Amino acid sequence: MFRIAGKGSEKMQHYGKWLIRIAAVYALIGAMIGSDLAGRKDYTMVPGHAHILVVGWLSLFAYGIFYHIFKEIGMKRTAKLQAWSSLIGGGLMPLSMLIYYKIENTFTTLLFIVTASVLLLAIILFAVLVFFDKKIFARS
Ligand code: HEM
Ligand code: HEM
Repeated sequence: MFRIAGKGSEKMQHYGKWLIRIAAVYALIGAMIGSDLAGRKDYTMVPGHAHILVVGWLSLFAYGIFYHIFKEIGMKRTAKLQAWSSLIGGGLMPLSMLIYYKIENTFTTLLFIVTASVLLLAIILFAVLVFFDKKIFARS
């Protein structure tokens, strides 16, 4: 049932560990922002709060668990790019959304678009991996 993991798979597990750790930090930040906006009734922060939790916490946690559990991945470069784009896109998009809903100008709009596009890339690459990688769901 268990396979001996090679060097490449250890590296992906390393990404998994960091995705889960960053997700844990986002859970904390998101819950604190939620408590703050609830207390102050500042509903401009709801989209930022929601995305910090559903993207920063839940999605990064899901990707992290994926890399922890699925040790054998054939498309290694795609997986590496997916891990980095989810760390950067998932990490920065919710924060840029939070800022955008507070201060709307050309810079914050561009920042929101760029970080959301990186997140979109991560979402697309994840779909590519689970549909086209030959090793992920292969039986040992
Ligand atoms: C200490 C914990 C939390 C507090 C105090 C809190 C507080 C709030 C408040 C006050 C709102 C605005 C509701 C409204 O529009 O009237 C909200 C919305 C939201 N929260 Fe939280 N929240 C917390 C944790 C979480 C967690 C753990 C998640 C997800 C894993 C989450 C996801 C969301 C989402 C998706 C929305 C938007 C809902 C919508 O658009 O209707 N929250 N939260
Ligand atoms: C490419 C990335 C994404 C963009 C640009 C985006 C943008 C948006 C926008 C503009 C809203 C409406 C906010 C408002 O004015 O109330 C929204 C709502 C929402 N999105 Fe996203 N989103 C993205 C990804 C995601 C993902 C990956 C999830 C779930 C994992 C998600 C979950 C939600 C939820 C639950 C709401 C309703 C909560 C709210 O009112 O803020 N979004 N999104």
